[in-house]
Amino acid sequence: MQYFFILGKNPILSKAEIEAVFALQDIRFKITDYSNNILIIETEKEFDVNWLNNRLGGTVKIGKILGKVETLENFEDKFFNLVKFGEGKVYFGFSLYNLGLKTPLKQLSRKLEPVAMEIKRKLREEKNINSRWVTSRDLELSSVIVKKNKLLENGAEICFFAKDSEIIIGQTLAVQLFEEFGARDYARPSRDDVSGMLPPKLARMMVNLAQVKQDALLLDPFCGSGTILQEALLLGYKNIIGCDISNKAVSDTEKNIQWLASKYNLNIEHVEIFKHDVKSINKKIEPESIDAIITEPYLGPAIKGSEGNKQIDLIIKELDNLYLAAFNQFKIILKTGGKIIIVFPIFQIRNQSKRLAAFEKIKEMGFKVLNTDDLIYWRPKQFIWRDIIIFEKV
Ligand SMILES: C[S@@+](CC[C@H](N)C(=O)[O-])C[C@H]1O[C@@H](n2cnc3c(N)ncnc32)[C@H](O)[C@@H]1O
Repeated sequence: MQYFFILGKNPILSKAEIEAVFALQDIRFKITDYSNNILIIETEKEFDVNWLNNRLGGTVKIGKILGKVETLENFEDKFFNLVKFGEGKVYFGFSLYNLGLKTPLKQLSRKLEPVAMEIKRKLREEKNINSRWVTSRDLELSSVIVKKNKLLENGAEICFFAKDSEIIIGQTLAVQLFEEFGARDYARPSRDDVSGMLPPKLARMMVNLAQVKQDALLLDPFCGSGTILQEALLLGYKNIIGCDISNKAVSDTEKNIQWLASKYNLNIEHVEIFKHDVKSINKKIEPESIDAIITEPYLGPAIKGSEGNKQIDLIIKELDNLYLAAFNQFKIILKTGGKIIIVFPIFQIRNQSKRLAAFEKIKEMGFKVLNTDDLIYWRPKQFIWRDIIIFEKV
C-alpha cells in the first residue's frame, strides 16, 4: 500500500512525528518520495488513516496513492475506474503538488479544466449524477476547503504529484482536524498571551515525538496554561504531572484541564498539578520515576527585535542557568532511558542566530540527543524560533 502525507509548515518536524508514531505502533514503512511538504510511503499492511489523522499534529492531509499517469490528457477515463461514489450529489476537486517537476505547475493546472468538465458531463449524461467541481485560487485545495465542501463525504479530492517523467495520483482520505485544534487554542477558558502559549499542534507533535507507551508517567515542569498536558490527555496518556512556579499558571492549567475533560469526557483521576520551582523539583517527585519530560520552558521576556547584542546575551545567560538547573533535576527524577522533549530558543535578531550555550553542557551531563535532523518550529517575523530537541537519559 502507498500513502501520501501533506506535511505542515515545518515539514521536517512533521515527518519526524510520523516516523515516531509509526515506530511506536510498529508499522513498518519505506519512504518512496519526499520533497518539500510531500511525503509518500509504502507500507506492508493497510493502516487506519482516520486513527492516524486523529493522532498527528503536523500533517495537513493523508491519502492513498491510486496510481500513475504520464499526462493529464484523458484522465477522466481513469477517474471513473479509480473513484467510486455513493448516492446523491457528488463534489470533486483537484490539487496539484510539485514533486520535482521542472516546468511551472501552473502550466499543468490549465489542463485540469477540460478534465473536470468532461467528468461533470459524463457524471450527468452517463450516470445521471449531479456534481460540483470545487476549485480554489491556489493550485492546491486547503484542508478547510476539502472539509467544508464535503469532498470527503460524497466526492473526492484527487491530488496530482507531478514529476518530469510521470504524475502520481492520490485520493485524500483525511484532513487535519483544524477546527478542534483551533478550539483548544482559542476557546479554552484560560490563555496566557504574556508568557506565550505553545500552539496545540506543536504540543501534540512534541508528545508524539516522545514515543512512549500509554501507561507512561509524563511531566511538564513549565506547564504554563497546560497545552502539552491537554494534548497528552487527548492522546490517551493518563498519568500526567504538571507544575509551574507561577500561581496563575497552575490555576490556568487546572481550569483548562477541567474544561478539556468535560468537553472530551476524559478521565483525569491521575493528573496532578501543583506549584513548584523546577530547580528543586526533586523534593516533590520520586527519583527515577518519570518516563518522559515534555516541556517548553521559560523562553525569556518578549522580544521586540530592537534589542542589542548585550541584552540578548544577558537573556541567554539567564536561560542557560535555568536550563542547566532544570537538567540537573531531570537527571534525578527521570528513569534511565527516559526521554526529554524540550524547546530550546533560537534568537533571530538582525540576521544573527543565537543559541543557548547550555546545550553542549547538557550533553556532557549524560543526555544523548536522539534527533538527527534539526527540528525547528518557526514562523516568518518571529524573533524566537523553537528548536525541538529529543534527549535520552543514558
Ligand atoms: C513559555 S511558558 C510555557 C508555556 C506552556 N508550554 C503553554 O503552552 O502554556 C513558560 C512557563 O515557565 C514558568 N517558569 C519560569 N521559571 C520557572 C521555574 N524556575 N520553575 C518552574 N516554572 C517556571 C513560567 O511561569 C511559565 O508559565
